Amino acid sequence: MEGAELGLEGATPMLLPAPENIDEHFGRGPGAKSTREVFHNPAMNGSRTRSVLLMHRLFELGWLPKGTLRALDGLGASGIRARRWINELPEEMSQRIDAHVCDILPSSLEWARQNQERFEEGKTLTLIEGDLRARVLSNGWHWIDLDPFGSPVTFLDPVIQAFARTGILEVSATDSAALTGSSKGPTMRRYGAVVRTNDWAHDSGLRVLLANIARVAACHDRAIEPLLSVWETHHLRVSVAIRRSKQGASNVEDNIGWRVWGPTPDELKISIDAGLHPHGNPEQSQPFCFLPFRHPTSHNISGKNRRISGPMWIGALHNSDVLLGFNEETALRLCVPDTEKLQRWGFDTSKHVELIEESRKNVLRAIRHLQEEATVPTNASLILVDRLHPHVLLQGPPSPRKLAEALTEAGHSSCVAAYPNPGIRTAAPWSLIHDLALELTTSKN
Ligand SMILES: C[S@@+](CC[C@H](N)C(=O)[O-])C[C@H]1O[C@@H](n2cnc3c(N)ncnc32)[C@H](O)[C@@H]1O
Repeated sequence: MEGAELGLEGATPMLLPAPENIDEHFGRGPGAKSTREVFHNPAMNGSRTRSVLLMHRLFELGWLPKGTLRALDGLGASGIRARRWINELPEEMSQRIDAHVCDILPSSLEWARQNQERFEEGKTLTLIEGDLRARVLSNGWHWIDLDPFGSPVTFLDPVIQAFARTGILEVSATDSAALTGSSKGPTMRRYGAVVRTNDWAHDSGLRVLLANIARVAACHDRAIEPLLSVWETHHLRVSVAIRRSKQGASNVEDNIGWRVWGPTPDELKISIDAGLHPHGNPEQSQPFCFLPFRHPTSHNISGKNRRISGPMWIGALHNSDVLLGFNEETALRLCVPDTEKLQRWGFDTSKHVELIEESRKNVLRAIRHLQEEATVPTNASLILVDRLHPHVLLQGPPSPRKLAEALTEAGHSSCVAAYPNPGIRTAAPWSLIHDLALELTTSKN
């Protein structure tokens, strides 16, 4: 196409129109705003890599239909995500995918069509032009990806109704100011929640988003199970399994509750008794605990004193079996091209080494620490090392790696958290976290 640029993401080539207006106020990086005829954000590269790996893992685990997987890249723009599914999964999986891309803009789909014609020999990609909220209902989907500008809330209801009996929903949200409580009006308006803005705010945001998805699913007699939840740069993203189950839908409240900051011994005890706090030690000062949705205490804590965030998802954020699929060997094998492919797609030979190295780096960044999280109990908490003080009287934070290793050695499998703020995931007793953090930082001096 005239003015098209040849690019590479993962192991998938793409033709995109050259950027038109570079807005200098936004500079470079994820927030860089250059407008193209079709939307494409390179900063979402990692999210698309994880989509490929998630689909691969669920095929491996036998969670997807035995026959054809009806998959919809719902707000697809150039269709790069769906194109990566069909290009990067092994042949025996990709031929089972009936991939569709929907977008409201004909010009976006025109780029998807051009890419398909040039690169997808013999593979089917069906293009759907129109408003996803109307078009999605025409089918029973097994996989839907929702990647909107800003908040996904307006799409959730029709999309969830459009699933077959079981399915996988992946949702991005770039309205992080709303989900993390820094824009209080939108937090309440869109998500019916209050969120304390601290270093855990993105973890709370993921949980607020999951609670909303769970409630909408419950309206349609469906229950959700989170498979993967990630905060990366400017966006939050959750992937959930959705199953038709009246009973599961009625039990939605089991996984929704509150997070209380600086809990009192009584609140800690309630949380421990409800099975929501694996760390025990109610008499010791701890950063937070979860409380069940209906526990009267949660309603006595005024939102104004900022000790409470929620309602939010208080269950697991990941499925450990699924996380095991996010390993380096698989990721590099599927998502990094070889020189033969680069040659075939028309990349300049002098650029091959650089392109492969760039792809490799991006792929490894996309899965960082995820596989480690599979080794800790699913009720493990996110403990941020910079926020251990004043609960542990430290001169400085311990290294997350050393703390996780010390806890694991002491018999409580723990890991460095896949979370941008330095921290660990652990279900160890608080007294042990306390003593080891102290020991590690004292022996440092
Ligand atoms: C953030 S972009 C999607 C990016 C894409 N998923 C990717 O990975 O490159 C959002 C897209 O949704 C499209 N869109 C916005 N509202 C829509 C609607 N109601 N129905 C279908 N597409 C819509 C826009 O045209 C835009 O291409």
